[in-house]
Amino acid sequence: MNLALIGYGKMGKEIEKIAVSRGHKINLIIDINNPQDLTIENLQKCDVAIEFTIPDSAVKNYNICFEAGIPVVSGTTGWLGKKEEVFKKCVEANGTFFYASNFSIGVNIFFELNRKLAYLMADYSDYNVEMTEVHHIHKLDAPSGTAISLAEDILKIIPGKTGWVNDEIPLENELNIKSERIGEVPGIHTIKYESDVDFIEITHSTKSRKGLALGVVLAAEYSLGRKGILTMKDLLNI
Ligand SMILES: NC(=O)c1ccc[n+]([C@@H]2O[C@H](COP(=O)([O-])OP(=O)(O)OC[C@H]3O[C@@H](n4cnc5c(N)ncnc54)[C@H](OP(=O)(O)O)[C@@H]3O)[C@@H](O)[C@H]2O)c1
Repeated sequence: MNLALIGYGKMGKEIEKIAVSRGHKINLIIDINNPQDLTIENLQKCDVAIEFTIPDSAVKNYNICFEAGIPVVSGTTGWLGKKEEVFKKCVEANGTFFYASNFSIGVNIFFELNRKLAYLMADYSDYNVEMTEVHHIHKLDAPSGTAISLAEDILKIIPGKTGWVNDEIPLENELNIKSERIGEVPGIHTIKYESDVDFIEITHSTKSRKGLALGVVLAAEYSLGRKGILTMKDLLNI
C-alpha cells in the first residue's frame, strides 16, 4: 500500500518502521512544518492515511481525508467531544474512519477483561472501583483515551456509577481516574476494586510503542476497501 502519515512524532516514526517492514511505501509525510502539502491531490496518491497528531488538528485532518475519499486510521486522543460530528461527516462522505483509543492487541484484550471483571463485580456493592493511568510527561491530554474507553465500559456495567472524574474527589456515583505523568512511561492502566477486606487489581503495561504501531498498520491494511466506522473489535473479532 501507499500510505500517508499525518503527524510525524513518536508514533508516526514508529509506524513508518513497521509499515516499511511489512512492505508498504510511505508516499506522503505531513508534520507541523509542511501543512500546505496536506492537499486532496496529494492524499489521492495514497491508499490509506494514518493520523497521529494533536487534539486541535485531528478533526480538520480527518475531514480532508474524507473529502479525498481515502480511508483514515487515527489514534490521536483528546478530540472525542466532536465524535458525533466526525462520524456523521464520515458517513455522509461514504468514507472510512478507523479509530482506536489504543491500537495494541494486548490492550484490546485488556478491554475485554475489564468488561468481564465489571460483570463479575456488578453485584458486590461493597467494592468501590477506581482507575489509575500513568504516561510520559509529554502527553497533552488527561485522562488518556484508553482510560476513557475503560471507564465508559465500567459505567455501562457497574450499577450506581454514572460518570467519571479526573483527579478530583469523586462523589459516590463517580468513578475516579487518577492520572500520573512520569518520565518516558509509554502507558500503564490499572483498575482496582476495593472493599474493607481486600482488593482486586488488573493492570496493563505497555513496554514500548512497537505493539501500538503494529496495530495501526494492521488497521490500515484492514481499512483498505472497507467503508464506514471501523474499530479494533472489527479487526480482532472480539
Ligand atoms: N491510539 C493509540 O494507540 C495511541 C498511541 C500513542 C499515542 N496516541 C495519541 O496519538 C497522538 C500522537 O502521539 P505521539 O506520541 O506520536 O505524539 P508526538 O510525538 O507529540 O507527535 C505528534 C506529532 O504531530 C505533529 N503535529 C502537530 N500538529 C500537526 C498538524 N496540524 N499536522 C500534522 N502534524 C502535526 C507534531 O509536530 P510538532 O512536534 O512539531 O508539534 C508531532 O510531530 C496523541 O494524541 C497521543 O495521545 C494514541
